Amino acid sequence: MSILIKNGRVVTAADDYVADIFIEGETVAAIGKNLPVEAGETIDATGKVVFPGGVDPHVHLDLPVMGTFSSDDYESGTRAALFGGTTTIIDFANQTRGGTLYAALDEWRKKADQKAFADYSFHVSVTDFNDRTRREVRDFIEKEGITSFKTFMAYTDTLRIDDGQMVALMQAVREDGGLVTVHATNGDMIDQLVAKHQAEGKLSPLYHYRSQPEITEAEASGRFIDMAYYTGVPAYIVHMTCEGALNHVREATRRNQKVFVETCIQYLLLDASLYESEGFEGAKWVMSPPLRQKKDQQALWAGLNQGLIHVVGTDHCPFMMAQKRAGEGDFAKIPNGHPALEHRLELLHSEGVRKGRISWNKFVEVTATNAAKIFGLFPQKGTIAIGSDADLVIFDPEEQHTISAETHHHHCDYSCYEGWPVTGKCKTVLLRGRVAIDDGAINVEKGYGRFVKRGKVSKVI
Ligand code: URP
Ligand code: ZN
Ligand code: ZN
Repeated sequence: MSILIKNGRVVTAADDYVADIFIEGETVAAIGKNLPVEAGETIDATGKVVFPGGVDPHVHLDLPVMGTFSSDDYESGTRAALFGGTTTIIDFANQTRGGTLYAALDEWRKKADQKAFADYSFHVSVTDFNDRTRREVRDFIEKEGITSFKTFMAYTDTLRIDDGQMVALMQAVREDGGLVTVHATNGDMIDQLVAKHQAEGKLSPLYHYRSQPEITEAEASGRFIDMAYYTGVPAYIVHMTCEGALNHVREATRRNQKVFVETCIQYLLLDASLYESEGFEGAKWVMSPPLRQKKDQQALWAGLNQGLIHVVGTDHCPFMMAQKRAGEGDFAKIPNGHPALEHRLELLHSEGVRKGRISWNKFVEVTATNAAKIFGLFPQKGTIAIGSDADLVIFDPEEQHTISAETHHHHCDYSCYEGWPVTGKCKTVLLRGRVAIDDGAINVEKGYGRFVKRGKVSKVI
């Protein structure tokens, strides 16, 4: 099967030019002006922008949380991803304390196998580092193509590892050629504030926000950065939200330390005033870390352009309102997370590129290329080049639409962006040489999405 995409504006992290793209089988075979080729199918991309399929490295599908599961599974979640131009996701397989990394991997493989529409990989979350885990780290990198190890400095009862385990894990991962990622917030400070607010009868969603002030994230980010410096491990901070944490990253550059940083679309666009919404409405945005202030949004946009923030992900982890209601009488029982996977690219284009906050090249860098490089998927994913997977978005930069739970593809009965006007639409999405989405319809079957083995990581991108 061959496809010719004619006359599109091709944008990568580095380039911006008008050309044809010729796809043979699963990969890009030629790029150039007026390519002299015969193709099985021709798509006219005149007036459209063609960019690499998105890579979202922070997604939770079918995640067990507080006795329930995030409401998108591999079927609904990866379908929504494709509609929004994201062709590869990286989810998290969480080790159970006392259990093995392989048990976690098996559990997540079962969730994904034969169900995914988009390509996928897993990070593995290490919640219990011991001699057996040490050996598994090596096997994951060498045999399984899983090269990133997630840690939590919060969620004391279930997921957190202490600083001793963190340092030991970092040393092991550095030796073996992997990367350590972190949810960097100070669990003890947060637990103390949660208990205080509960004792005072302050139980509404607003107190989720008030239990995780900026300093809890800034402190943990700084501590993690220092431990990464001490051990020399390549390090990545997930879902950074605030100026205080970013200042630690900036400070680390003075000793020529590079820490990879991800923010998420919601932290660029939404702010904590939403927690003051009427009644239980604020629960829609209960996530950790919480939304912050407008000054933090400004710091994050600047951080993208300063090269301090490398990735815009989503931390997609949706729950139905009925699931959120488990915390109606106590904010600490609201399952954390929100739906965003489908709208990352269109929102970032509309609010970022369109409004002049970031360039087109930066858009591609932070939605696809950097994540692919950092997590060992490049150049198979994350760019448009000869030999790369033909994961492409053909994008109409002028089409206007409005986000709504009525029309989104997430398995979630609300949207955090309800009524949000967007300019720009993913019209056609190709995954490994097949037209997966075309004008609002899906054309690939469940199970087409494939597990992608990842390579070793480098400290610099
Ligand atoms: O609220 C969130 N972020 N839920 C998902 C788990 C995590 O901490 O990333
Ligand atoms: Zn987290
Ligand atoms: Zn997460």
